[in-house]
Amino acid sequence: MRQKYVLVTGGAGYIGSHTVLELLQTGYKIVVMDNLSNSNLEALRRVEILAGRPVHFFKGDITSTADLERVFSQYAFWAVIHFAAIKAVGESAQIPLDYYHNNVTGSLNLMRVMNQFKVKNLVFSSSATVYGEPEIVPVNETARLGPVTNPYGRTKLFVEEMVRDLCKSDPEWNVCLLRFFNPVGAHVSGMIGEHPQGIPNNLLPYVIQVLQGRLPHVCIYGDDYDTPDGTGVRDYIHVSDLATGHVAALRKLEKRPGCVAYNLGTGTGYSVKQIVNAMEKATKKKIPYKVVDRRPGDVATCTADASLANRELGWSPIRSMDEMCQDMWRWTHLNPQGYDGPLKATAAAV
Ligand code: NAD
Ligand code: WQD
Repeated sequence: MRQKYVLVTGGAGYIGSHTVLELLQTGYKIVVMDNLSNSNLEALRRVEILAGRPVHFFKGDITSTADLERVFSQYAFWAVIHFAAIKAVGESAQIPLDYYHNNVTGSLNLMRVMNQFKVKNLVFSSSATVYGEPEIVPVNETARLGPVTNPYGRTKLFVEEMVRDLCKSDPEWNVCLLRFFNPVGAHVSGMIGEHPQGIPNNLLPYVIQVLQGRLPHVCIYGDDYDTPDGTGVRDYIHVSDLATGHVAALRKLEKRPGCVAYNLGTGTGYSVKQIVNAMEKATKKKIPYKVVDRRPGDVATCTADASLANRELGWSPIRSMDEMCQDMWRWTHLNPQGYDGPLKATAAAV
């Protein structure tokens, strides 16, 4: 399988770039297809430097069948890792049709073209959001799905349903639905990381911008939840651990498992206040915050039971919360303007 290419849609993005690096280091040959709507080619240039191996890049859009046919005609693929999506929860309620078009129609196009070219191995980026408000935490893969409170989350649930129908109809298909919990952190080198456009929606990128002085304080969305300190609890996972999860999922596909869903999380929950404290410790800086109203749609606690991935994929996350915070801060320190500015110094200088 290693002689053939793996197509990575959205591979220039945050999780995609870290995964491409891990795949190259494991020996896979990679083609990235990305429309660069939320990413920068500089990320892939740095991935090539870190891996010492090339990434084949194809600028294209998954909503265009012609783009997909072109890339599938150029390369012989055996599997696809499908990251390409737009992901801002709030924005998805403002422009839902754009979200359904990009994420659902785009995924549908991709699977149709995969069928056409007889490439029937897929790893799909799903999300813990498909569980809605879990009845039991840590949540496992047999839990009820939904109801999901926003269009972005529904795009993930709908694509999962499409995949399940497809696999039922054709046993040649093998799909790992990877349900990511809360990805954070950056590669330990400080050379690649997350570069959000505008004001971040997610907690850690917001905290980073407060630390940089670009935002005045962190807004904690509610401290009256039924959690130990009243603030929301989530399962944060280092992006490099997610990357190794994708390598493990590809190996699973080689065993022809049919359609399988796996939670990728650590199993440990951190509250918003604990995250603020952890970032203060990692940066040795004080982080101002204010408690404000709850954010609509938020749940109190969401943590993963990832024991299935551990048993069936042989995967477990190894990086601690301290490493998540330190790596994120190193990336920020070396790249204060993300990929828009020059890399400031070597990681050793931090
Ligand atoms: P990202 O925005 O950094 O990466 C997505 C990439 O897809 C970007 O490079 C973007 O340019 C590209 N893209 C978007 N639409 C495209 C299209 N129509 N055609 C081609 N390329 C397109 O996001 P990320 O955080 O790396 O997320 C990757 C995947 O993981 C997404 O599917 C996302 O929904 C999912 N996910 C993310 C999180 C998270 O918190 N980051 C959590 C759970 C699931
Ligand atoms: C984490 C905690 C907030 C920001 C979202 C998506 C989910 C997935 C991951 C893609 C919560 C609190 C946040 C802030 C805060 N994405 N918070 N102040 O909501 O768990 O998940 O990203 O699939 O679909 O919904 O992550 O980082 O936004 O929030 O207090 O400025 O931090 O209330 O408790 P969330 P998050």
